[in-house]
Amino acid sequence: MARVLSCIQPTGEVHLGNYLGALRNWVSGQHNNDVFHGIVDLHALTITDTPGVLGQQTLQLAAILFAVGLDPQIATVFVQSHIPEHSQLGWIMECTVSFGELSRMTQFKDKSAKREADFVSAGLFTYPALQAADILLYDASEVPVGDDQRQHIEITRDIALRFNHRFGDTFVVPKAVTPPTGARVMDLQEPTNKMSKSGDGEAGIIYLLDDPASIVKKFKRAVTDSDNEVVFDRELKPGVSNLLEILGAVTNESPSALATTYTQYGKLKQDTGEAVAEMLRPIQTRYHELMADPAELSNLLALGKERASKVASATLARAHSAIGLYPSN
Ligand code: TRP
Repeated sequence: MARVLSCIQPTGEVHLGNYLGALRNWVSGQHNNDVFHGIVDLHALTITDTPGVLGQQTLQLAAILFAVGLDPQIATVFVQSHIPEHSQLGWIMECTVSFGELSRMTQFKDKSAKREADFVSAGLFTYPALQAADILLYDASEVPVGDDQRQHIEITRDIALRFNHRFGDTFVVPKAVTPPTGARVMDLQEPTNKMSKSGDGEAGIIYLLDDPASIVKKFKRAVTDSDNEVVFDRELKPGVSNLLEILGAVTNESPSALATTYTQYGKLKQDTGEAVAEMLRPIQTRYHELMADPAELSNLLALGKERASKVASATLARAHSAIGLYPSN
C-alpha cells in the first residue's frame, strides 16, 4: 500500500473539472492506498483576507469531500491549520529552498502578474515551501496532481533530496503521479480552456452544487461548432469532444465509441447534461445532510486530525533531530 497525499484549497466552489479530474480518483484510490487529503486553508491565505470566509469555505469543502465518497474510516481527511506541524516544517523548508528556485515557479510568476495592482504577499512566493511541508510531513511516496502542479512536486523532491543530503536521510522523496482515469474537463463556453474557477463567466462551469435544471441548461448552451458532425477530435472539435469526454467519464465509456452513437449535437448535449445531473444528485443530497449537521462534520474532521497529527508530529521530530536543534525536555 503506497502512502498517497493530495490537497485542495478551500477557495471557491468545487466544479465538475475538480470532481472528474481529481476528487473521483481520490475516492477510488482510498481502497488501494493509504491516503491523506488535506484542506489547505493556510495556502488559501496567500490570496484571501476577508475575516470569517475561510472557515466557512473549509467546512463546505469538507462536506463536499465526504459527500463525494471519501470515507473517514479509511481516508485521512484533515484541515491544514489544525496541524501546526505544517507551519513549523514550512519554515524549515523555506530555509532549504533558494530564492532563485522559488523565483522560477511559473505559478508564482502568473499569479503575481495577475495580482499586479493588488497585494502580492510573501506567502505567495514561499507557497511551494509550505506545499513541500504538506507532502514531506506524511512520508508520501505518491502525489496525484494535475500538470499545473508538477513543478511544485519537482521542487518538493529537490528540497527533500537537499535536506537528506545536508542532514541525513529524513524524508521520503515523493513523485508526482497522473491519475489513470482523470478526465480533462474544459469550459463549456470556451472549450479550449480548462474548466476553472479563475476563468471568467459562470455559464461554462458546472458546479457540484448546481441544481439539475441549471446543469441541463448549461449543457444545452455549450459551445460546439456549425458542421454538425459528432466526432471525437480535441484539436478540430474541442466543444463536441469535451461533451463526449464528460459523458464518457460519467458513463465509463470511451469518448470515441460514444461519438459513433450520436448524429446530433442537441441529443448529445441533452444526454450529457442529464447524465451529469443524475451523477451529482446523491452527492448533493449527502452534502446537504452533512451541512445540516455541523457537529457530525466536525467529528469527522477530528478523526482525520488525530491520525494526521500522529504522523506529522513524528516526522517533524525526526527533522528537528536530524538538524540537531537543541531538544526541549
Ligand atoms: N498547490 C495545490 C493547488 O493549488 C494545492 C496543494 C497544497 C497541494 N499542498 C499540496 C497539492 C500538497 C498536492 C500536495 O492545487
